Amino acid sequence: MIPAPVQLDHLAPQLPQMEAGEFEAIADYAKTTFGLHLPLAKKEMVFARLIKRLRRRGLQDFSTYLAFIKHKDNAEERSEFLSALTTNVTQFFRESHHFDFFRDHLLAGIISKARAGHRLRFWSAGCSAGQEPYSLAMLILDSCPDAALLDIKILASDIDPRILDIARRGQYPADQRAAIPEALHRFLHPAASDQMFTIDAEPRKLISFAELNLIEDWPMRQGFDAIFCRNVAIYFDAPTQSRLWHRFAQQTKEGGHLFIGHSERLSGPAVAQMRSVGITVYVKTPTP
Ligand SMILES: C[S@@+](CC[C@H](N)C(=O)[O-])C[C@H]1O[C@@H](n2cnc3c(N)ncnc32)[C@H](O)[C@@H]1O
Repeated sequence: MIPAPVQLDHLAPQLPQMEAGEFEAIADYAKTTFGLHLPLAKKEMVFARLIKRLRRRGLQDFSTYLAFIKHKDNAEERSEFLSALTTNVTQFFRESHHFDFFRDHLLAGIISKARAGHRLRFWSAGCSAGQEPYSLAMLILDSCPDAALLDIKILASDIDPRILDIARRGQYPADQRAAIPEALHRFLHPAASDQMFTIDAEPRKLISFAELNLIEDWPMRQGFDAIFCRNVAIYFDAPTQSRLWHRFAQQTKEGGHLFIGHSERLSGPAVAQMRSVGITVYVKTPTP
């Protein structure tokens, strides 16, 4: 006689549930700490991504996990939490029309101002692994080979310290070369592994990397000639976005430009301060 199959279901580890109150507490924390907007419709996504973090840490439930990331000593898991709920996806010359606009409409003016001794400042806000600021630096150097000797600087900031380490290293998988225009390949060098390339020292000299949470205070006091903040505000709720656009408008010099992501739109007080001059490109108009 064939023995009846043994029922092991009762021995299978139970997945912790995410109670409604736990989801609310997590969403509240994500909003106040990182500006992230997690509506109830995202509960399944939040569950699926955070359950992996719970397992990795060997924690029993989401309340314990939330207490864990709130603890001052657990900054590393706070970064993991943020990474699990956002994406660092980026690429060289992403939304290339922005770089075309910069090259065709702004670069000549920028170079002549810099040569006349002016201070030129650019900001890649939410720079991820660095492709955005390096694209900008290579573009500037292509037309102004002595840029590093002039007063031209790019601030590249992100909230995620681990992604900033990658950005500072400036080494990328070989398949990312294709997104960089051929004329700029002189700024790329083979890395130790032939699966990777590395960014030349000249573009690096133009960039300062810094950890910065966009929803907290900003230490910068001076204005920027152009700010790139693309595909970051999509994670924020509408009031947080409006506040961010307003702060960017205040941080942009008169006549300076703001570049935002393809699915983002200016809202709030910034609308009266910034005039659209291209696809998701805005110029700061003089204050009346
Ligand atoms: C999708 S990437 C965009 C990268 C690049 N700007 C682009 O368009 O390719 C979004 C980046 O925003 C960063 N980020 C998310 N919330 C942030 C916050 N509150 N402050 C600063 N950066 C944040 C993430 O760490 C991530 O690197």
